[in-house]
Amino acid sequence: MLYCDVKELAYNARSIRAFDVSRPAGEDMLKHFVECARLCPSAANLQPLKFKLCFEKSEVDALFPLTRWAGYLKDRRIPPEGEEPTDFIVICHDTSVSPISEYSTMDVGIVAQTINLAAVEKGFGCCMIGSFDKKATAELFSFPENLTPVLVLALGTPKESPIICSIGEDGSTKYFRDDAGLHFVPKRSMEDVLIK
Ligand SMILES: Cc1cc2nc3c(=O)[nH]c(=O)nc-3n(C[C@H](O)[C@H](O)[C@H](O)COP(=O)(O)O)c2cc1C
Repeated sequence: MLYCDVKELAYNARSIRAFDVSRPAGEDMLKHFVECARLCPSAANLQPLKFKLCFEKSEVDALFPLTRWAGYLKDRRIPPEGEEPTDFIVICHDTSVSPISEYSTMDVGIVAQTINLAAVEKGFGCCMIGSFDKKATAELFSFPENLTPVLVLALGTPKESPIICSIGEDGSTKYFRDDAGLHFVPKRSMEDVLIK
């Protein structure tokens, strides 16, 4: 059986913070992403995560101001005006299934990266947003008590191509932009991450 190259997918699955608003993902594509997510491993196979799909412009426009972007880059508007995400998936923990726990937060990471990779495979891009107003998000969508928003996935067609680079001599892992606005993401080397 043929599989796509996971290393290549992972290499290209950078956090995207500028989008082509003329090419949204849309409802069917978001459902495809959730179809991938629902097949993920889950601690004790509890599967406590639920997904709110946002593809209607009114919902996307209402959620966007509740999200915080690129905390290291304070000198510019990110995403730039007119290049905002066109779609969102709000990952919620359903406490009627199980309490939020150390293990359930691992489930969140697994589904988030699965959706990120699925998005890249289909020509879309994603930015995971942990910094968002959870209370206002729950109010916006009138979530019942049992649904706690835990992570937002901003999605759309990428309008930027972040570049992986090695970590400089100062050892900083902070992402940065050059004068041309290119976004660089320092990653630790194989030597740095392998335990000897
Ligand atoms: C759990 C999690 C939460 C994140 N929250 C935010 C966020 O609130 N805002 C943002 O702009 N980026 C957020 N990011 C994206 C990270 O900044 C990004 O993954 C990191 O800079 C490395 O870049 P890369 O994803 O291109 O490898 C988040 C990433 C993860 C995994």
